[in-house]
Amino acid sequence: MDIFCVKKMIERNRDKFLTMILSIALVVPLIAQETGLNSQNKLDAILNAMSIEDKVGQMTQLNIKLVLEPEKNPIQVDSQALDLILKNQRIGSFMNTIGRALTTEEWNYLQKTIRYFTEKNDVVPVLYGIDAVHGANYTMGSVIFPHQLGQAASWNEKLVFQASEITAFECRASGIPWVFAPIVDLGRQPLWGQFFETYGEDVLLAERMTVASVSGLQNKEQGLNVAGCAKHYVGYGLPKNGKDRTTVHISDHILRELHIPPFKAAIDAGVMSVMIGSHDLNGIPMNANRYLLTNVLRDELRFSGVLVTDWADIKKLHTTHRVTTDYRESILAAISAGVDMAMVPEDFVFYETLLDLVRSGEISEDRINQATRRIVDMKAKLGLFNEQDYSLNKSVGQESHQKLAYDLASESITVLKNRNNTLPLDTNSKVFVTGPAANDVRFQIGAWGRTWQGMDSIVTSESIMSIYNGIQVHGESTTMSGITVDTQLDVESALLMASKSEVIVLCLGEKPATEKPADITSLAISGPQLEYFNRLHKLEIPIVVVLVQNRPRLLGDIAKKASAVVLAYQPGSMGGKAVGDVLYGEVNPAGKLPFTYPRYEHGISTYDHAYADEVDPMYGANGFNPQWEFGHGLSYSEFVYSNLTLGRDSVSKDDTLTVVVELENKGLRTGKEVVQVYISDEVASLVPSVKRLRDFQKIELEEAQRKSVTFHIDIHDLGFVHPGETSKSVESGWFKLSVGGLSARFFVRQ
Ligand code: BGC
Repeated sequence: MDIFCVKKMIERNRDKFLTMILSIALVVPLIAQETGLNSQNKLDAILNAMSIEDKVGQMTQLNIKLVLEPEKNPIQVDSQALDLILKNQRIGSFMNTIGRALTTEEWNYLQKTIRYFTEKNDVVPVLYGIDAVHGANYTMGSVIFPHQLGQAASWNEKLVFQASEITAFECRASGIPWVFAPIVDLGRQPLWGQFFETYGEDVLLAERMTVASVSGLQNKEQGLNVAGCAKHYVGYGLPKNGKDRTTVHISDHILRELHIPPFKAAIDAGVMSVMIGSHDLNGIPMNANRYLLTNVLRDELRFSGVLVTDWADIKKLHTTHRVTTDYRESILAAISAGVDMAMVPEDFVFYETLLDLVRSGEISEDRINQATRRIVDMKAKLGLFNEQDYSLNKSVGQESHQKLAYDLASESITVLKNRNNTLPLDTNSKVFVTGPAANDVRFQIGAWGRTWQGMDSIVTSESIMSIYNGIQVHGESTTMSGITVDTQLDVESALLMASKSEVIVLCLGEKPATEKPADITSLAISGPQLEYFNRLHKLEIPIVVVLVQNRPRLLGDIAKKASAVVLAYQPGSMGGKAVGDVLYGEVNPAGKLPFTYPRYEHGISTYDHAYADEVDPMYGANGFNPQWEFGHGLSYSEFVYSNLTLGRDSVSKDDTLTVVVELENKGLRTGKEVVQVYISDEVASLVPSVKRLRDFQKIELEEAQRKSVTFHIDIHDLGFVHPGETSKSVESGWFKLSVGGLSARFFVRQ
């Protein structure tokens, strides 16, 4: 681990809590080493006892579906198939589920059965991996947190850390020690169908959320940690055409400036595994990119954990990317590039072919030993060699977990517009709650719910509060959806009901989807939703629009005409209550956009764009004109900034700059504000961003309370990666710092 880097981050972030989680990030790998197979000798002993067949088996991950009897409820293992697979292929890892979430009883039965057959066949314990990307979503009854985009909108690392601890706990209740999370790709391409799974567009916010998540998942303090998996290495979130698993073009220096740092943050926090993206980067499929998988990830970033592919990606080197002619060549390319484990996951050819490549000497035994050592080491760190009692911890979804899911959802919800204080709603007003997301919890949970795409009825079988339910508890309300996302239903009846109300809460959104099924051709909100809004608007009743969506959909007239707009993201199992409480003011909203909300289809930009991107057709500087800016989010309190002071106005490159600003809550209720520090490099040898987020703190203030907020900015962090270089360097000159509408300049000396 790069201790220097972690120490630097601690110094930079004096905030008490962050220091705590970073210290945990520092000690987790150490604890893991102690409690795992702490002596290399023990590891050597296990590896020496393994045959080549055993080792190739360790590098193979299969879908559990292959050994489950289809359609059985409760699930049933095909014992003969499992026995044979373990006996003949010595499988190291299983993944996934049978197309739906399982109960803890089903999980425990499954894990015990696998354990029984691994022991019977003398196979190293199996590492079970799952997509638990916002809670243990594939375990019935578990809490579901907002998707990562919503988590980032909370700008609250403590809550993200705690949510990750709960995810780990609830996964372990299912006998699962490995989760394919967090997603550390940046969300800078809103068309991309996995946008909602990212921590948004900014590298610093993504780094800090990543550290919180990895530290929470892997926190041994709880006794039942899981291994995290930073994915999808690297640049996966920026497909040129916006479609999943397609070509990405990013120059090497931008890769190092923006896209590699969240992976570095995960690695420095001790992340035990990394998943490779399914895309090609600058024409080289990631799974065959030896430079990025080995030279950069291993040699530069010092990643020592397990490197796993994404779904069937080795095969896709010849079937999709066409850089190899057949499976054998693909396996040779991927394993030589540095892959440790293949998420095969549904064929038996991988194992046989890799074995043959080793026997023929085309792949060295050293490479196999290296990969196996990492996998077995991870298993040991996760305690898989110890006796396990899956009945120890069966409870999921307990009250304290629900409370945390509620807190995180409440802090993420972002009020984007609130004309004439439409919000909070008056409990005496008659409210009509409508739209496709009003009373359908599948929108709140999103994809990776109890099923992959999240639209199946199994999700609705649990008693989860819808947005309508969350509103109902506060005041008089009626509901009717009126439309689906794509079709009109009984609009006339809905309009009649709406006409009898004093406020309309219109819950619009996007059908949950992820990966390829989430590819879209336009960012515009669907026609039926726009039309329905316009018809409701004609009633001249205030409309509060609540958005529940996978990515920012263009609102057109809605943004102008609605009285209030609230972005709920996909707020999870406690999201209905949280939305209701925000609308009625029980919660003072504090979410801030983790991305730039576009206004136009062809006006997509990020907040850290270049000055040239602001030039408009009249040669003015109004060319950057998003619907709402990164970092925007309204409160029911008024926060006033004053007295911005810099410790010095001239600093050296090795200095730390102290920044103090006063914040006052002038509102009539307690509220939270995210104090965001932006810095602009006024002139640089490489086109500078108009501004970059360099630090933030979330501060809670009571009515009329004032507080001085202090930041320590490491001047090294203001540098950038020059083309041809591998790390950042700072250029001397003037910089401008801005916080909450105030600004000051400082000079960085040679
Ligand atoms: C996704 C990954 C996921 C994997 C396993 C892939 O299709 O891209 O994010 O972890 O499936 O389910």
